[in-house]
Amino acid sequence: MAIKKVCVIGSGTMGSGIAQVSAQAGYETTMVDVKQEFLDRGMSTIKKSLGKFVEKEKIKQEEMNKALARLHTSIDMENAAKDADYVIEAVFERAEVKLPIFVQLEEICPTETILASNTSGIPVSLLASATKRPNKVIGTHFMNPVPLMKGVEIVKSLLTSEETLKVSLDFVNSLGKETVVVKDSPGFVTNRIVTLVFNEAAKLLEENLASIEDIDKIEKLSHNWPMGPFELADMVGIDVVVDLLEGIYQQTGWERYKPAPLLKRMVEIGYTGRKVGKGFYQLFG
Ligand SMILES: NC(=O)c1ccc[n+]([C@@H]2O[C@H](COP(=O)([O-])OP(=O)(O)OC[C@H]3O[C@@H](n4cnc5c(N)ncnc54)[C@H](O)[C@@H]3O)[C@@H](O)[C@H]2O)c1
Repeated sequence: MAIKKVCVIGSGTMGSGIAQVSAQAGYETTMVDVKQEFLDRGMSTIKKSLGKFVEKEKIKQEEMNKALARLHTSIDMENAAKDADYVIEAVFERAEVKLPIFVQLEEICPTETILASNTSGIPVSLLASATKRPNKVIGTHFMNPVPLMKGVEIVKSLLTSEETLKVSLDFVNSLGKETVVVKDSPGFVTNRIVTLVFNEAAKLLEENLASIEDIDKIEKLSHNWPMGPFELADMVGIDVVVDLLEGIYQQTGWERYKPAPLLKRMVEIGYTGRKVGKGFYQLFG
């Protein structure tokens, strides 16, 4: 199956990054969101990112222009997805937001269209259950920031077909990414591990064991991490971290995934990280 048209639902941190790499790789790509202002924000992130690549001479100005010419935006999902060969959903990490989208995509898209989700931990089989094509539903878990991070976790549910897996691996590899195939289980592999790091770091801060600068510093120096847990949480989005922990906790009942109270307080006061200009470093730095 040849992929020509890609539709990305959601133009936030991840959706804009996925749309960017898709357009850069030569696919006609449409990014969908609920409001034009969100799409404008997504496009401005993409232009900034491509501009940096040009500045650092990683790509030529002409490549940037071509990528931008392949990128389209729409607040009309029906129009944008009706002739897409591959759809990637990247909206909020909440089943109640994602499920209606899969119900609609089932109605809108041709029967051969593959429906992928960038979910970080919601079961792919649950999303597939909203469609009549569970064999064509798969997880493509890109990492943040998408244009820079090489790895993509490919999540195969019990019903994802080998053909869908093959097409998805070829597509994601064509974006210059490397893939690892994992089973459909809460948090997959990456988030089973990294969410515990965020949770434990927040507990250390609550216990006043060390400052956030020192916690980040010692982890970077000791384990060769490029970023400390708080720097990374601010980049990922603290609301995203809480949603991830809640999701794994609700699905498994494992106490260690119960979000640290401090993480929840941060979300309640609107300190959700870099995307809103205020996170751990603005409050505790
Ligand atoms: N942020 C990360 O580091 C990261 C990493 C890997 C995976 N993910 C996953 O990627 C997905 C998106 O996360 P994000 O960080 O980009 O979120 P985000 O909050 O930055 O963006 C979500 C976007 O989806 C849009 N949206 C919501 N409902 C919609 C609808 N019905 N139709 C169209 N658009 C809609 C919102 O307006 C928003 O622009 C989540 O499932 C998340 O778990 C996030």
